[in-house]
Amino acid sequence: MSLLFVNACLREGSQTERLARMWLDRRAYDGEVSELSLSKLDVDPLDAVGPSPVAAYSAGVAAGDFGHPLFSYALEFAQADEVLIAAPMWNYSVPAKLHAYLELVCSQGVTFDVDETGAYVSLCHIKALTFVTTAGGAAVDPLDDHCFGYVRTLARQFWHVPQVDCVAAWGLSAPGADVGALLAQALER
Ligand SMILES: Cc1cc2nc3c(=O)[nH]c(=O)nc-3n(C[C@H](O)[C@H](O)[C@H](O)COP(=O)(O)O)c2cc1C
Repeated sequence: MSLLFVNACLREGSQTERLARMWLDRRAYDGEVSELSLSKLDVDPLDAVGPSPVAAYSAGVAAGDFGHPLFSYALEFAQADEVLIAAPMWNYSVPAKLHAYLELVCSQGVTFDVDETGAYVSLCHIKALTFVTTAGGAAVDPLDDHCFGYVRTLARQFWHVPQVDCVAAWGLSAPGADVGALLAQALER
């Protein structure tokens, strides 16, 4: 049993990381927890040039050969039984580094595939995915939320995760906000 903690909190003293650790304490996971701290890692988005060339991605997918280092995050993700992703809301979305990481995780043939009818088939066995986030402003309509909404779409469409949850604390930058209380309330919801 393994829980992969994708820590996409990039700020010193991150409130999102604080909330994620509160969630982990409460979860008391009965297995191995491995943390991937994106702030300490090079995560290069797919590009024409550079460490993650999209040509190498396409060639690897076509050949079913996932030896290129750009597939390493996807290979690790495919092994997880449970996933925790923590990221602050940035511009109503996730930090670009998390987006780049997820781009690599979504490697066809490693974490998902396409069957003969064109439907997505999950190659993961993740039973639950929890997304922890905090935001300075007020909660937004789900249609305007490209933060949890984005992660939830990947989890449902590609990886067919049966349980996808969000733990979110909003309004942390409001004047007089009691951040400790807002984080505690987020865990209770
Ligand atoms: C680059 C950047 C973009 C942000 N964009 C938003 C936003 O779109 N909506 C919002 O409510 N807060 C936004 N904020 C505020 C953060 O979401 C808020 O301060 C959050 O609690 C930060 O989490 P952290 O302490 O884990 O970094 C932004 C902050 C930064 C630094």
